[in-house]
Amino acid sequence: MRKLSELNLNKKRCLVRVDFNVPLADGDVQNDFRIRAAIPTIRHCLNQGASVVLMSHLGRPKGKIVEELSLEPVAYALEGLLAQEVKFSTDCISTEALKVSEKLGVGEVHLLENLRFHPGETNNDAKFSERLAKHGDIYINDAFGTAHRPHASNVGVLDYFRLSAAGFLLEKERKYLSGAVKSPKHPFVVILGGSKVAGKIDLIHNLLKQADKIMIGGAMAFTFLKVLGENVGNSKVEADKLSVAKKILSEAEKQNVEIILPADVVAAPELDTDSPWRVTKLDELEDDESGFDVGPETSMIFESHLEDAGTILWNGPLGVFEIPAFSTGTHSIAHAIINETEEGAISIVGGGDTASAVESLESGMNGFTHISTGGGASLELLSGLVLPAFKALDDHE
Ligand code: 3PG
Repeated sequence: MRKLSELNLNKKRCLVRVDFNVPLADGDVQNDFRIRAAIPTIRHCLNQGASVVLMSHLGRPKGKIVEELSLEPVAYALEGLLAQEVKFSTDCISTEALKVSEKLGVGEVHLLENLRFHPGETNNDAKFSERLAKHGDIYINDAFGTAHRPHASNVGVLDYFRLSAAGFLLEKERKYLSGAVKSPKHPFVVILGGSKVAGKIDLIHNLLKQADKIMIGGAMAFTFLKVLGENVGNSKVEADKLSVAKKILSEAEKQNVEIILPADVVAAPELDTDSPWRVTKLDELEDDESGFDVGPETSMIFESHLEDAGTILWNGPLGVFEIPAFSTGTHSIAHAIINETEEGAISIVGGGDTASAVESLESGMNGFTHISTGGGASLELLSGLVLPAFKALDDHE
């Protein structure tokens, strides 16, 4: 994979795949984390005397035009962040759009409409890829969030370029996420949360190779606690994943990886903002109560295991953080990770829900070494899988 800094971009048109798949409401961008994350690459190209054509998907329109999934609001958000005009084309491969790209002057930016309005994008169609490629002289991929998809804009399009490079974001994501699981600074402490064991089996198996400790919170902890014969009240247990959880626990023992599970929870009869809640030890959970967050004792235990960590990887909230009564565990661990980062630990937050949880902190997204912009992509990379977009760039000469 060529580094962006190695290319001479002067007077070139850079076609950059970004992941601007951001939440919108009433025609406005609700969260610009992914847009901000692409700015260093865009700025670098502009500063090097290039013009920039940006392409992205938004949502899953399934090959049809869906007005609510237009990238036009993103063009306005981008104008604000770059403090310059962003040209916008309403069809990513129309003749008009290609003309705009052709005529771009040095320092100009052009954003194309949602790639997935055409079925050729997700089908990795050769004709669609060839047409897209006409927008630029050099191809740059900075869309980490989409790197696990083998689509036209991040795989097929490479056939039509001589020069390609990974953008700064892609490079950074690979460095931290692959680096964490391949050669972490020990002790390597992992915190896992989220609702399901199901989506994280490969991830846990891969982490067992290097981790020294794995702490598990979120609803997925109950499946492990059940295997150990603990009382979980009415908490959500994945009955079909009990044997998988059992296997993971015995594998961890064999590999000498300490698994730490919650000792207490914040429990309520219903998952509701108005539901009465209480902190309780597991063995005092009533049959009609479910745990929706880790309790304060668990938070203290988890925090004590973070002390002196070399690398901390956090993937998945520890409770239903969107509801204030069940957000304390997630927020406490976030603060503890920030403290350890100040003490010299490398902290990596693995995308999706975890990034949203971090965003709801008072300190915002500051204080961590790296917060991934990928959801599924970060999970797959941490699970040791080869991401199609990475492979395509690696194979490209
Ligand atoms: C994401 O939000 O995880 C990426 O943008 C990929 O989106 P997708 O799951 O619709 O391919």
